[in-house]
Amino acid sequence: MAKKVKVGIIGLGFMGTTHYGIYKSNPKVEITAIADVDAAKRKGDIRKVIGNIGGGDNSKPLDLTGTKTYADGMELINDPNVDVVDICVPTFLHCQYAVAALKAGKHVFCEKPLARNVKEAETIIAEARKSDKCFSVGMCIRYWPEYSCARELYTSGKLGKLRSATFTRLSPNIAGNAWRNWFMDGKLSGGALLDLHLHDTDAVRFFFGRPRAVTSFGVNSRSSDGAMDHVITNYEFGDGTMVAAEGGWAAARGIPFEMSFQIICEKATVLFNSAGFKVYYENGKVEEPKPANPALPTGWHEELDYFIGCILNNKRPDKFITLDEMLDSMKIITAEQQSANKRKTVKIKY
Ligand SMILES: NC(=O)c1ccc[n+]([C@@H]2O[C@H](COP(=O)([O-])OP(=O)(O)OC[C@H]3O[C@@H](n4cnc5c(N)ncnc54)[C@H](O)[C@@H]3O)[C@@H](O)[C@H]2O)c1
Repeated sequence: MAKKVKVGIIGLGFMGTTHYGIYKSNPKVEITAIADVDAAKRKGDIRKVIGNIGGGDNSKPLDLTGTKTYADGMELINDPNVDVVDICVPTFLHCQYAVAALKAGKHVFCEKPLARNVKEAETIIAEARKSDKCFSVGMCIRYWPEYSCARELYTSGKLGKLRSATFTRLSPNIAGNAWRNWFMDGKLSGGALLDLHLHDTDAVRFFFGRPRAVTSFGVNSRSSDGAMDHVITNYEFGDGTMVAAEGGWAAARGIPFEMSFQIICEKATVLFNSAGFKVYYENGKVEEPKPANPALPTGWHEELDYFIGCILNNKRPDKFITLDEMLDSMKIITAEQQSANKRKTVKIKY
């Protein structure tokens, strides 16, 4: 029988259970360990887990027979029966676990945001550079079928020169969903700016390279510590294009989650929204690209499948995101926070 990659997940909340389900459907993976501070989750009871998008049936307990469970993530990291440490704890805990797991010689997949701030992100990246193991971050939008397909079309030159692009990510308010309501504590999560809008900041970096400066407007309406719950940013590339993104979780609980983009180029416009994913060419032709691999329906499936494949094939997992790009996005989002605070344009120092 082919060798399976042994995965340990730290944090069995919304993302941890999402990763758990994805790994379970991957025959190349065995989940050997789980760590969570919550005793109920260590018994497989995930009824309290709620997310803002996707997610499975959490009413049924997970069958953790044969899976080692730990209350302390550091014990999981030191378990010799774990090859990959998958970090799905709240953002303020990423740095300590990512660094410890890399130092312990494990492959590490860390949920996004890479860290709570640039300094912590730099600490993790420095450790990842020293390691000969695979390291990546869950910037899942780079892998999301419609985003990765649109980016491929754009970089192929088929769409022509960029004129403008807008990205949107609007979530209902998620207060009360998570462990100890940590998302609403700006110190722990960085608010919607870092937690949610970062996906589109990183998408802008992925599609168009490094913006020179940002001008952001934001509002704090729900989180503590003045964190931004809704933000709109213009990214300056100095080439006459207009690139903007809007993200927030300030809306009432009942509204549906929305993620969308519109990329207007000289030869075509690419549109992704709740109505679908289409390319409208200037000559009137309309194409509806289909996802490359229906077995991997979301960016979460793609990123984990790709990461496991890199481990098995002894390759660096840098096709979708490099270590430098991980840091870039943290620097851009930090500039957005500064811009919104100061109400002026901020140049980005890379
Ligand atoms: N990629 C995405 O689309 C996406 C979506 C949602 C969340 N996230 C990210 O995933 C991470 C987790 O978010 P979530 O929504 O799953 O949060 P959550 O609150 O649902 O889950 C966090 C889990 O961590 C556990 N935990 C807390 N402290 C711990 C510790 N010291 N050791 C072990 N377990 C501990 C909690 O008991 C809980 O089960 C965050 O960084 C978040 O930003 C990413």
